Amino acid sequence: MKQTVLTGIKPTGEIHLGNYIGAIKPALELAKKNDYHTAYFVADYHALTKFHNAEEFKRLSYGIAATWIALGLDPTKAIFYRQSDVPEIFELNWILACFTSKGLMNRAHAYKALVDQNHQNDNDQDFGVNMGLFTYPILMAADILLFQSDIVPVGKDQVQHVEIARDIAESFNHVYGETFKLPTYQIQEDTAVLPGLDGRKMSKSYNNTIPLFVEPRQLQKLINKIQTDSLPPEAPKDPDTSNLFLLYKEFASPSEVQEMRERYLTGIGWGEAKKELFQVINKFIQEPREKYNELMASPEQLDEILLEGAKKAREVCIPLLKEVKRKVGFTI
Ligand code: TRP
Repeated sequence: MKQTVLTGIKPTGEIHLGNYIGAIKPALELAKKNDYHTAYFVADYHALTKFHNAEEFKRLSYGIAATWIALGLDPTKAIFYRQSDVPEIFELNWILACFTSKGLMNRAHAYKALVDQNHQNDNDQDFGVNMGLFTYPILMAADILLFQSDIVPVGKDQVQHVEIARDIAESFNHVYGETFKLPTYQIQEDTAVLPGLDGRKMSKSYNNTIPLFVEPRQLQKLINKIQTDSLPPEAPKDPDTSNLFLLYKEFASPSEVQEMRERYLTGIGWGEAKKELFQVINKFIQEPREKYNELMASPEQLDEILLEGAKKAREVCIPLLKEVKRKVGFTI
């Protein structure tokens, strides 16, 4: 029996190089290998907790879908869908909510961080907290449990949410007997953490990202902004501590990497290193960028792919939802 790997990406901003290397690339490789059932989705309901501008929301949701497809996700190999196209997730969300103590939600980190901030600013503790944000981990548990997921690849900040999904599954199983599989998280630690423009981890929250699909001129401009030290061009440089080299490594072929390593050691100017970095990233991204632009210009294609995916997702999850509803006492 193949295990199920499931993960979602929330459409809250433009996908950047760090998202690609840290999350999307390993997920694409996994889907190709056929060793697992893979389910990847656009977590649009989750984004609604903070995005209240319809046009922007729509554009970002399509953006995530277009990114996966442009980078080569084969929707015949992975189940690929939009969360909001699978209403069963929402039905399960409510049922799970009735098995989740409020105290568990009080301890969830995103909510707790807001409460702490409110305390510091002398605000009411729940100032700016909507119920979507508060119950966010329950919806995430529904995403995960409805597909009997074994493995959930996530960033470090999402580990607690997967643990909460386990807790909720256990509460349910405890009352009604073995029903949900207990998921485990997989942190993408073996993959590199990409440095951003300022050398810190590339992240939306640090505002130091290089978006994946920017046009070439903008890409070159952003690369020029990457911080370097002030060594003169001819000075030997340590590739392993260079942010430019760390990025180069992820996009170049092994022989290009080897060659570049030697150029660092014998002395390469930062200007030159930046040009080379631009070349490899641009070469890699050229085709996906075209595909991405094409998909964004005609989102009907995306709708078709996503609806087909939702159909498959529903075939997989409806039997479990029925079982759950029967167990709690609904006549269906
Ligand atoms: N909360 C995740 C994030 O912010 C996105 C997400 C929603 C998710 N549902 C999920 C990830 C289920 C994994 C599994 O990154």
